[in-house]
Amino acid sequence: MARVFITGSSDGLGLMAARLLLDQGHKVVLHARNQNRAKELRSKVAAADSIVLGDLSSIAQTKSVAEQVNELGAMDAVIHNAAVGYQEPKRAETEDGLPQVFAVNTLAPYILTVLIRKPKRLIYLSSGLHKQGDASLNDLTWERRRWDGTQAYSDTKLHDVLLAFAVARRWPDVLSNALEPGWVPTKMGGPSAPDDLDQGHRTQVWLAVSEDPAAKVTGQYFYHLKRRAVHPAAHDSKIQDKLLEACKEMSGVEFS
Ligand SMILES: NC(=O)c1ccc[n+]([C@@H]2O[C@H](COP(=O)([O-])OP(=O)(O)OC[C@H]3O[C@@H](n4cnc5c(N)ncnc54)[C@H](OP(=O)(O)O)[C@@H]3O)[C@@H](O)[C@H]2O)c1
Repeated sequence: MARVFITGSSDGLGLMAARLLLDQGHKVVLHARNQNRAKELRSKVAAADSIVLGDLSSIAQTKSVAEQVNELGAMDAVIHNAAVGYQEPKRAETEDGLPQVFAVNTLAPYILTVLIRKPKRLIYLSSGLHKQGDASLNDLTWERRRWDGTQAYSDTKLHDVLLAFAVARRWPDVLSNALEPGWVPTKMGGPSAPDDLDQGHRTQVWLAVSEDPAAKVTGQYFYHLKRRAVHPAAHDSKIQDKLLEACKEMSGVEFS
């Protein structure tokens, strides 16, 4: 039996993954952005181990999420699932002066990766859209470019792969992988998303707990339990390190 922490598990694929893990007999630590969402979540998933609270668009609250998780003891796996979607109409700015989509999708998983006691496995939710992400990393906070919500989301999903692969390279004792779940009809995917919702949560659960040798790999990218090609820049250690350095500058949290 494993103990798994899932960010953004109040809805969508995070909630589905939590339910599947619980059905398989594992322990799950859930995460909701605030008390109200946690209350709703508690009524949906009574069997959860605990629910940690925090809005991942805030650096301070993200650090608090890491502290809450660490207080619960070691996790076997962490699934970095929470994200804001690709239809943000404007550069919504967080309390830290960052675009919300970058804060939630890129900086929060970076901070949580560094601050949560090292688990055995790390899983990062990316998207097929990562392939059109900007690998220059030259304007992470959208101060020089004209806002484009789809591009901003795609950039962050490339960052998630860069982060997964950087961790795989720097921490050989941890299995760190990324995946795309398909375009599925969650709140983010929208009602007309064409892919199979019932396949959308299975790969992250498999990577988190399976003893299948195919799941016990590191530095790989998956779609529906199969390896899939990534943006070539994702393997570039200089670009990975550039992202880690930028995240360190913005958060004050150093990857070591
Ligand atoms: N659905 C798709 O078609 C699709 C395709 C490719 C990749 N993905 C990826 O799959 C993952 C899950 O997506 P989904 O479709 O399940 O999305 P979703 O249904 O919108 O759920 C997102 C989850 O993240 C949480 N969240 C968002 N912003 C947060 C914040 N600031 N603080 C705390 N929690 C926050 C949400 O909380 P609330 O419930 O409170 O909003 C919710 O629990 C994401 O990483 C996404 O990029 C999805």
